This record gives sequence, structure tokens and C-alpha cells, in this order.
Amino acid sequence: MSNVATLTINGQTIELPIIEGVEGDRGIDIRQLRQKTGFITYDPGYGNTGSCKSAITYMDGEKGILRYRGIPIEALADQSSFVETAYLVINGELPTREQLNRTSVQLNDHSLVHEDMQIFYQNFPRASHPMGILSAMVNALRSFYPELITSDSDFEEVYVRLISKIRTMAAISYKISRGHKVEYPRADYTYCANFLNMMFNTPVKPYILRKELVRALNVFWILHADHEQNCSTAVVRSVGSARTNIYASLSAGISALWGELHGGANQAVIQMLSDIHEKGIKVKDVIKRAKSKTDPFRLMGFGHRVYKTYDPRAKIMKHNCHEVLDRLNYQDPLLDIALELEQIATSDPYFLDHYLYPNVDFYSGIMLRAMGIPTSMFTVMFAIGRLPGWIAQWRENTLDPEQRLTRPRQVYTGLTERPYIPIDERGNGPD
Ligand code: CMC
Repeated sequence: MSNVATLTINGQTIELPIIEGVEGDRGIDIRQLRQKTGFITYDPGYGNTGSCKSAITYMDGEKGILRYRGIPIEALADQSSFVETAYLVINGELPTREQLNRTSVQLNDHSLVHEDMQIFYQNFPRASHPMGILSAMVNALRSFYPELITSDSDFEEVYVRLISKIRTMAAISYKISRGHKVEYPRADYTYCANFLNMMFNTPVKPYILRKELVRALNVFWILHADHEQNCSTAVVRSVGSARTNIYASLSAGISALWGELHGGANQAVIQMLSDIHEKGIKVKDVIKRAKSKTDPFRLMGFGHRVYKTYDPRAKIMKHNCHEVLDRLNYQDPLLDIALELEQIATSDPYFLDHYLYPNVDFYSGIMLRAMGIPTSMFTVMFAIGRLPGWIAQWRENTLDPEQRLTRPRQVYTGLTERPYIPIDERGNGPD
């Protein structure tokens, strides 16, 4: 295959280098395009734009493949823990037993949140969405830890702090939203067990940890750990490209994740399923709406920019969801509705022609609900899982000598030059 692409434009022919990834994905390097031709590219949503080279996560959207640092998601979900997977995503290799133990000790050491931060929590209106609170609090963390990252060991300290504290902060926001006493982390609990205990233990009703729920939470977070250049990760990289600190970059990523086309879809799915259940809406009418060209409604938890087949995470999530509901002997009418929606949608020509299959968010909310996690916390759960990816991608971007300040161009469609009219000469304008 040629290693250059030839572009002829306005009678001028130029050659653009082709770059190739290790799995055969190919890109045309257009860095010289504007300088040589005066043209830019136009690609809203960046569906055809490679913004970086990355060695973290590989996806094949046609085949439904997802690997972190070369290891298939299926193997990690089956055998790894979230802490081990986070280590892999951030450091590039699975940890040795000694490295994993050290990380666990560090996570424990960093698990407390400065007591002064609780004052911030108390001042948010009670109805605040936990994603807004989380984004603000992660940004505020920087005021408590203003040190710059100047070495690998500084980075290690900061990433462990973020992964540990953000989990604690999420649980605190839930407790405060309920008006309950904050539950502190425990040194004798693992990362996931600690989260469940901080969420659900109360002085009057001790939380009994169940191994299978701790495992299910590990799998849930492993499935969310990274997903190459998704919207929030692109935001984290973009903000970081201005040499913005990691706390502010992550805070921006959390805000991007909040949207219902991205991480907020897990909350939107449950709202959609609940509406169908409570209002007695027929599944076939929902499918009809999703297909309508005039209705902006979309089937939430379906479709993906990259996957043109079943999302490999959704397969595992569906299995995980069934297992949790079975173990808890929890009957959820929303699961029946979801299964019916999937069955109808995946045999409907509209969904097949548009390559729309369940994504990771379709079954995750049903599982979280069974575990007792409130709907408003679902996207926060996604955010905790995505931390290793955001952190690894922020670091990779910061260390990549080819990276520059993110600054796309535009094709201007506004008014051409016109004179400034002093206010007294402007007339009264429309009534
Ligand atoms: N229901 C109905 N139609 C859809 C859907 C859907 N869920 N998703 C895409 N389409 C249609 C869309 O109307 C358009 O149709 P047409 O070409 O006939 O006008 C076509 O498919 C392409 O849509 P698009 O918006 O250009 O596609 P995209 O690649 O930008 O969209 C998506 C990706 C995830 C934003 C979209 O599939 C969607 O809105 N899904 C629902 C929200 C959701 O579940 N989001 C979670 C994504 S996975 C978790 C994560 O990574 O955040």
C-alpha cells in the first residue's frame, strides 16, 4: 500500500503522508494541508478526525472489539479487579502482586476527603444533580492540592489521590443529599466494597456486604475504564492541551459525560423505561417514535458512534445485570421492557440499517437500581469508572511531543464586513 495520499485541488496536486496504527487503522496526515493549499477539512463531530496517536485502548467498531493495553475487555471483566484494570490502563502493564498491594495501600491512604470540603457540599441546593456537584468538587480539589506534576512519582501520587478521593466524594454527595451522616472509608475494605459501604451503611442499619455485588461493581467499573477518544476524553485532552491542571481537566470531562447522548444515557434509559412502565406506553409506539424523522426522540441506550454491531461492553453488562437481579431475587418490570425493546429493535430494518444495537448504558441502570444506587447517581458511577481512562489519556497527551494546543478551525458563515452604526443612528428597530 502507498504511504502517501494524493490530493488534487484547484489544479494543484499535493502528497499527504499516510500513517498506520498497529492494528491496521490508517489515517491521512493533514497537518500541512492548510499551509500548502489554504484549505481546511470540515468534519462536525470529528467522526473522521484522528486527534492523536494513542497506545491505551483499541476498538474495532465493526467487529465489536475492545481492548485496554491489548487485553480484551472480556478477559478483564472475567478475571481482573477495577483497581488492577485502572493500574493497567494508566501504567500500561498489569501490576505485579507487590505493585497491586502498594496501590491498594496508597488508595487507602488517600481515601479521606478534607473535612473543609464538606462545607461546600452542605451549601449546594438539595436538589442539585450529583454530576454538577462532582464536577465542581473535583475542580475544588485542586485548591487543596496545588502542587504541579513534575515527575512520574508526582503523577502517581495525584492519580491515586483522584481515584480514591473521587469515589469517597461521590458517596459523600449521596449521604448529604439524603441528609445522613457521612460514612468514612475503612482500611479493611477493598475499593469497591468501601464504596458500597460508604453509600449504604448507616448507624441504625449496618450494610451487609455481599461478595457478588462487590464483584458486579468491579465488572461495572472495568467496563467503563476507558473508551479511546469519546466525548469526555476528548474534552479532558483538549482542556489539558492548554496546560490546564489535571483536576480542572477532569472536572470538564465530568461535565461532558453528564450529557444524555454520552454518560447521561444510563439515567435517560431508566427514565425512558419508567415512562413506558408508568404511563402504559406501548413498546411498538416507542420504536415508532425513535424511527420518526420529525420526532427528536431517540431510543436511549442504543447506538454508538464507533460500534456498528453489539457493543461488547453491553453483552457483559446484560449478563451482569441478569446475575445481580437473580442473586438478589429482584423482579424489575423495567428489565422485561428493556428485553422487549431490544428484541423488537434488533430485528427492525431501521435499527439494522442504521447499525443501532444496545450500548453499555442500556442494561447498566437496571443493575445499579437493583443494587440500591439512585437514578441520579448513575452517571456519577460511570464517571468513577472512567477515571483511569481520563487520567491515562490526559497524561499521554501531556507527554506527547506531537500534541499542540487544541484549536480547531471553522468555515465562517456569518455576515461579511459592514460599518459600525452609532446608537443614535440605528432607528427604533422592530417593535
Ligand atoms: N435511536 C434512534 N435513532 C438513532 C439513534 C437512537 N438511539 N442513534 C442514532 N440514530 C439515528 C439518527 O437519527 C440518524 O438517522 P438518519 O441518518 O436517518 O438521520 C443516524 O442514526 C445517525 O445518527 P448520529 O446522531 O449521526 O449518529 P452518532 O454516531 O453521532 O450517534 C449516539 C451516536 C450515541 C449519539 C446516538 O446513537 C444516540 O443518540 N444514542 C442514544 C444515546 C445513547 O445511548 N448514548 C450512549 C452512547 S454509549 C456510552 C458512551 O460512550 O457515552
